[in-house]
Amino acid sequence: MSVVAAVGCQWGDEGKGKIVDMLAEKSDMVVRFSGGDNAGHTVVNPLGTFALKLVPCGIFYPQVTCIIGNGVAVNPAVLLEEMDSLLQRGIDLSHLYISDRANLIMPYHTFLDGLEEESRGGKAIGTTRKGIGPAFSDKIARLGIRAGDLLDREMFRERLSHLLEHKNAIITKVFGAEPLSLDGIFKQYCEYGERLAPHIRETTLMIAEALESGSKVLMEGAQGTLLDPDFGTYPFGTSSSPLAGEASIGAGFGPTRIERVIGVFKAFCSRVGAGPFPTELEDETGDLIRERGHEYGTVTGRPRRCGWFDAVAARFSQRVNSCTGLAITRLDILDTLPGLKMCTGYELDGQVTDNFPASAAALARCRPVYEELPGWQTPISDIRQFEQLPREAQQYVNRIEELLSCPADIISVGSAREQTIVRRDIM
Ligand code: GDP
Ligand code: IMO
Ligand code: MG
Repeated sequence: MSVVAAVGCQWGDEGKGKIVDMLAEKSDMVVRFSGGDNAGHTVVNPLGTFALKLVPCGIFYPQVTCIIGNGVAVNPAVLLEEMDSLLQRGIDLSHLYISDRANLIMPYHTFLDGLEEESRGGKAIGTTRKGIGPAFSDKIARLGIRAGDLLDREMFRERLSHLLEHKNAIITKVFGAEPLSLDGIFKQYCEYGERLAPHIRETTLMIAEALESGSKVLMEGAQGTLLDPDFGTYPFGTSSSPLAGEASIGAGFGPTRIERVIGVFKAFCSRVGAGPFPTELEDETGDLIRERGHEYGTVTGRPRRCGWFDAVAARFSQRVNSCTGLAITRLDILDTLPGLKMCTGYELDGQVTDNFPASAAALARCRPVYEELPGWQTPISDIRQFEQLPREAQQYVNRIEELLSCPADIISVGSAREQTIVRRDIM
């Protein structure tokens, strides 16, 4: 096995952190390939509970090389804060590397993310305000500054000076806000550069060497497929691709290397931020799932919108990622419910369809068609064998497998590393 990608297949927060931490045990390398510190990946393992934003979830195994790939937008202030907090907790970071090609999130990106959101008023996307949209826009517009640039101060100052003039014109003339200081940003980012320098590398070479020597490489997705700029509920989504295909581009190897794609799905759905969500439950059941599952954002603390498992959206995600297997997480959150619903079709403008529409406006008009399944109403968090799950829980998982035409290789029944049912060796 050379490369396995674990990717979010709903609207983010599917439990990727838990799955990656667990799979990392048998990996040699873990690579983040997209997103930025809009991600919040929770890991619960014998070392404690961690909410990682940029550092790959393989960091807890000293023998696993961890890479923040070129496809990640890195806010160096956030990364250093995260590194300090991990160091304080005794986690070794000597095996953490950052691609010299990773674009940096600059102070004007976070500032503009906030100003743009404010200016959208009622049409706001509900971004995490971490500067993600502005940073990835600049990358594509060829206006970015990359991690490697911090290592050449003269060139960095010249580029920053030129870019900041342009950004300050937008900040002052479009938004009527105060301009940012060149000297301030330059000094601060030079300090960040100095601290990060020992970790900044040509990481494509490291990955190539790992693959050459038969190492097992695990790609850690961020966000979820339904937030993808192409396949998500555009424009209500993020600005880099959470898809398995991006694992190749966001790290620097060819797609033929990816042997397995594990689609991470929650046993229900959640969404944080604005945008259509057909199975959203704005009732007591939704509240119950939110409270039982502590469904509050890892990054922003916002309450997550909760709803039933949407098999129409899930089939679409499975298709655009070509998942070879599923990881179904948080099955235990449904333990107390007497009956469950699964959306198997949408009623759109009087017609029933099982197609996930491209248009967010059309998706907002979709009414879910539900199939009802019995609940199991018994705790399952201590179960480690699929056959020992209550019959109703097995039936629920089997129905997802059937609707997605894909095997559930992993079933997670609790937040801790060991609270997992593994039905097939992945790494
Ligand atoms: P990520 O962004 O995909 O890594 O997911 P988050 O960490 O943002 O949110 C997932 C939440 O679910 C975290 O609090 C995890 O600790 C928790 N979690 C993951 N898997 C399970 C599970 O199977 N059962 C329970 N109860 N919690 C889980
Ligand atoms: P993880 O990796 C859930 C959502 C935001 C917003 C939209 C755009 O933890 O699953 P952005 O700041 O990216 O411009 O916000 O995307 N979003 C996430 N939702 N989990 C995430 O990451 C998310 N990252 C971004 O809430 O709706
Ligand atoms: Mg998260």
